Amino acid sequence: MPANTTNDAAPARAAATPGTGTPRTPGTREAITPAEAVAPAETVAPAEAVAPLLRGIAVLRRLTEADDGTLSLSGLEKATGLARSTVDRITATLARMGYVRLDGRDVTLAPRLTELGNAYLAALRLPALLASRADALADELDESVSLAVGDRDGIRFIHQATRRRAMSLSFRIGDLLPAERTAPGPLFATEWTRADWHRWRDRRAADPEDRTFPAVPPRDHTTPARDEDFEDRTAAAATDGYSLDDQLIEPGLVAVSAPVRDPGTGRIACVASVVSHTSRHTAEDLRTALLPRLRSTVRSMENDLLTAPPPEPGTPRSGLATWTAASKQELGRDFVESLARGLTVLTAFGEDRPALTLTDVAKATGLARATARRALITHEHAGLVAATPDRTFILTPRVLSLGFPPLSRTSLPQIAQPHLTALADRVHESASLAVLSDSGEEIQYTARASTSRVMSARISVGTRLPAHATALGHVLLSLPESRSQGYALVDEELEAGLRSIAVPVRDRTGRVVAAVNVAMHAARRTAAACVTDVLPLLAETASHIEADLRVTGRFRRIPLT
Ligand code: PHB
Repeated sequence: MPANTTNDAAPARAAATPGTGTPRTPGTREAITPAEAVAPAETVAPAEAVAPLLRGIAVLRRLTEADDGTLSLSGLEKATGLARSTVDRITATLARMGYVRLDGRDVTLAPRLTELGNAYLAALRLPALLASRADALADELDESVSLAVGDRDGIRFIHQATRRRAMSLSFRIGDLLPAERTAPGPLFATEWTRADWHRWRDRRAADPEDRTFPAVPPRDHTTPARDEDFEDRTAAAATDGYSLDDQLIEPGLVAVSAPVRDPGTGRIACVASVVSHTSRHTAEDLRTALLPRLRSTVRSMENDLLTAPPPEPGTPRSGLATWTAASKQELGRDFVESLARGLTVLTAFGEDRPALTLTDVAKATGLARATARRALITHEHAGLVAATPDRTFILTPRVLSLGFPPLSRTSLPQIAQPHLTALADRVHESASLAVLSDSGEEIQYTARASTSRVMSARISVGTRLPAHATALGHVLLSLPESRSQGYALVDEELEAGLRSIAVPVRDRTGRVVAAVNVAMHAARRTAAACVTDVLPLLAETASHIEADLRVTGRFRRIPLT
């Protein structure tokens, strides 16, 4: 494919002139693969766009749409239309950044990537300010409650307080839905411009089955919803101040929504929804029985916005330029520096930095102004950044399309697994994660990486053991011995010849939520050797798990089992 040949040369070319921002020859256009043509009507990238950055964004989007956030390298090659050598370099760069994991031939989204979506959610501030009200309403009603923002002609979730029920789909933070098939959609559409309505009609015509919205089942075009239906619902939403979804996504799924208005501008900041199932409530029921409760929560939310304290000053990132240069030095051609720099630009935004000028971005990232400018132009083209009339840039909800939905579902055992595997490979012993049972008397294994040694075979995920007899238990119970030295070592209590050393895993608040251990045959190492040789690697593993927990747990509660 000629497009690939052109594209493939670009990373090396861009990387060869780092930071100079040398514009490409005026008038030349970067060839765009179908997968990169993400924004309808803007298929041609501006001449100054950074091609490797667009390719990296395309790779992350394809992985986000894939099952479990995983594709093989050849699957990625097909999905993006990029040359294999390009896919290899892009994924090596993303792996270096901690944004994906390379596992043989598979590429998987990694927890660290949520820092991009976190930057958007932090800058938006709404999850931090309103999530606890949404959660309380969900508890009170025993129904799911969500918060969504408008994203062009779609809606995107920024918070989910989900009741686990098998009967219907439940959406993830970052999922994008077509506005017309949701309850929040008509409320957002009350603020649409003529151009927005045009875009919506064009999209409906181009994609009659909603194939560009992987989060929803395809639209049944044998009974097409007419454009007028959505226009009528929007007119009703403007008068009524609420909106319903009567099984527009799938049979049984119903929702009622009300807008949370920004106290300053009066515009819709986000929309709160109560979601149920027809086995419990009809759509009409939702309106009569639950809408009043939703409305009073929304009033409290609006008051929270009015009285919100100014954002806490964050810690701006620094040392980026040094880090990317060192990585380039080390990995050479396999590290696409312009991609790494470009993505990090997104992390310059945050709670106290929702809108940044070009100068701000350059300062926050340590990048040359010209480099920062080209990255911003590229992100704007990809729909991730928007320029405001007062010459600042803001992040758009579309940043959540970079890995957030699949990663927003990961549990602690899933987060820990690759770290346990790496540890087991290094020490040639089995490594496990465990939590305390509700009674506090037992530990339960929740993840495990075992070596082939026969001895370790009796323990598997789900196994329970008495807490007092295990190193994992001592750590989880914070027994004085383990609390003072930071680890527990237990010899042969459970089984002759078995030695185990364990350390705690703490969440963002410092609470011990789990423990990791290495178990080995006592004859293989003395207790002292266990402390000098194994403990440092075990502690490092725990700190890697904790770092992932901190980043992915910033805007949601992480299931511990
Ligand atoms: C949801 O939060 O899952 C939800 C919200 C509104 C809808 C449908 C689903 O219309």
